[in-house]
Amino acid sequence: MSMNTIKNADDYKRFYDMSLNDKEAFWSEVASNYKWNRPFEKITSGDFNNLDVKWFEGAKLNITENCIDRHLEKRANKTAIIYEANNPDEESLHITYKELHSRVCKFANVLKDRGVKKGDRVIFYMSMVPDLLVGVLASARIGAIHSVVFGGFSANALAGRIQDCEATIIVTNDAGFRGDKTVPLKAITDEALKSCPTIKTVLVSKRVGEDIQMIEGRDHWLQPMLDQADNNCDPVYVDSEDPLFILYTSGSTGKPKGLLHTTAGYMVWAGETYKNVFQVGEDDVYWCTADIGWITGHSYITYGPLLNGSTQVMFEGVPTYPDAGRFWEATEKHKVTHFYTAPTAIRALEAHGLDYVKSHDLSSLKVLGSVGEPINEEAWDWYNKNIGKEKCPIVDTWWQTETGGIMISPLPGVGKFLPSFAESPLPGVDPIFVDAEGVEVTGNPAEGNLCIRSPWPGMARTIWGDHERYRQTYFSTYPGLYFTGDGAKRNEQGDYRITGRVDDVINVSGHRMGTAEVEDALNQHEDIVESAVVGYPHDIKGQGIYAYVIWNPQSKNTQDPKQIHKELNDMVIKMIGPIAKPDKVQVVSGLPKTRSGKIMRRILRKVASGDSSNMGDISTLLNPEVVEEIKNGAL
Ligand code: WT7
Repeated sequence: MSMNTIKNADDYKRFYDMSLNDKEAFWSEVASNYKWNRPFEKITSGDFNNLDVKWFEGAKLNITENCIDRHLEKRANKTAIIYEANNPDEESLHITYKELHSRVCKFANVLKDRGVKKGDRVIFYMSMVPDLLVGVLASARIGAIHSVVFGGFSANALAGRIQDCEATIIVTNDAGFRGDKTVPLKAITDEALKSCPTIKTVLVSKRVGEDIQMIEGRDHWLQPMLDQADNNCDPVYVDSEDPLFILYTSGSTGKPKGLLHTTAGYMVWAGETYKNVFQVGEDDVYWCTADIGWITGHSYITYGPLLNGSTQVMFEGVPTYPDAGRFWEATEKHKVTHFYTAPTAIRALEAHGLDYVKSHDLSSLKVLGSVGEPINEEAWDWYNKNIGKEKCPIVDTWWQTETGGIMISPLPGVGKFLPSFAESPLPGVDPIFVDAEGVEVTGNPAEGNLCIRSPWPGMARTIWGDHERYRQTYFSTYPGLYFTGDGAKRNEQGDYRITGRVDDVINVSGHRMGTAEVEDALNQHEDIVESAVVGYPHDIKGQGIYAYVIWNPQSKNTQDPKQIHKELNDMVIKMIGPIAKPDKVQVVSGLPKTRSGKIMRRILRKVASGDSSNMGDISTLLNPEVVEEIKNGAL
């Protein structure tokens, strides 16, 4: 671990105060942990008014040199990746830093041979195989911009993302293993590419052995190309603000946003937050169960652990295959010391009972982590007691795709570890609560909309191709502040507790979903007149998706509610992917609307949550009569 890891409450206070009061000194010191090809001239410039934020300006660097080459002197034969396949009988693969270097160089040379240059967009639509991690690093090695699309998204969703960033090349698998199923990734890619003329090359990494179609000239098997490629590739040094990746995420309007992260600030943020939050020692084994298709897999699989020279487990499968003991079996097998997962996984495993836990030796564990949604006290207690045996701190890490890395979290050796509290802002993070009018809420205890007052290195710099939307989405609600979309509380002592989204975004099993995006998908069905989607509390998923739909009463197709639900599921699977399927579909004759025609979601949320006792004032509605009908038909 480097010199400036936060080890106790005094360190935390000193570092935190310095990070806000003497930015120059603080970040200069932090930056000295990294390798720069040319030093930076200025720590930071720009603000939340001009939205031209820059960090470490003037520098030249390559993030993969920091993730790999830099470690070769001392850690060449240290394991970087322990690959745990979907099938537990498949032998785990150990990849050392030296082998990772060679693999990344080969892949980078393959990309170069296909004409990929600095600034080009490379799409990855893969399952969790080593070639995904290697490919992403290879893209960064040559200054290209990677955009990973989660392998659960549909052809339509994939096509939308490719079109938006005008990628020229896509890397996929023939198919992917997922529990007892396979996902036909190449076939879905073929379907998507029908509407993606910018793509000239498809590289296929063989995983399942699926019978697939290969289009001559466009499609190539990756493996033979890697075998022939040179295992050295000089890193391309890029400017600090050159783009590193685009990652699409949902917002409160229909179209997913391509958040753009740039190189130097993101690198420092991923590296430092990983170091301080997890405190992984030289001989420890870290495991983050996320998929690289999400931001967690970018910052805390691909970059954070490698920047710090850690050994980590990369897992292809799902928590319940072949049974609900899989996480604990693999923890025992690889002697995992640091384990980072999502509350939804904890709740799902809890529901399977303790037998799956008790049969495994979890004594290697030192630190547990949680991410993706608020962790309820019950799940926190279960995790603490049965997995951590009441001896592991639980870092409840609050952050977002937009923030690039962890923003608020208790730190081992520092935190109080209060169930469901994210507790304290990390150095460089300046949170502020505002009320609905944008007036700062001061003092403790307090409650408000969570905003951030000043730029931090890891923040997304723009939405790809739409800087105005970036301004609108994050900086217009409360001018001069970054608005997170989350509500939060502080207790008497000032510890932060994140309570959840206050906008039209819902969080289903830790996956972010825009209600408008799901509505857009439902509305594609020819028998849908109108729809409204809200979230409701769900025991395992955190939030479930509840869709109110007006179905054409004249439709000859079907009027059976079960069949309607099925048809709508199919439509959502086609437009977005299985993760966005509505859990409940209620057919209604009308949606409650204000006189200006706005759907009154407050009412729909209340009914969906199973509480229709007090609807509040509905006299201003255009159609108050539908409220009674909706209440009576609640599912
Ligand atoms: C939203 C961001 C952060 C990576 C995974 C999700 C919610 C995330 C927590 C937490 C309470 C959390 C927020 C946030 N969230 N972590 N520890 N406690 N809420 O990234 O898809 O960008 O979603 O997830 O609502 O805004 P994302």
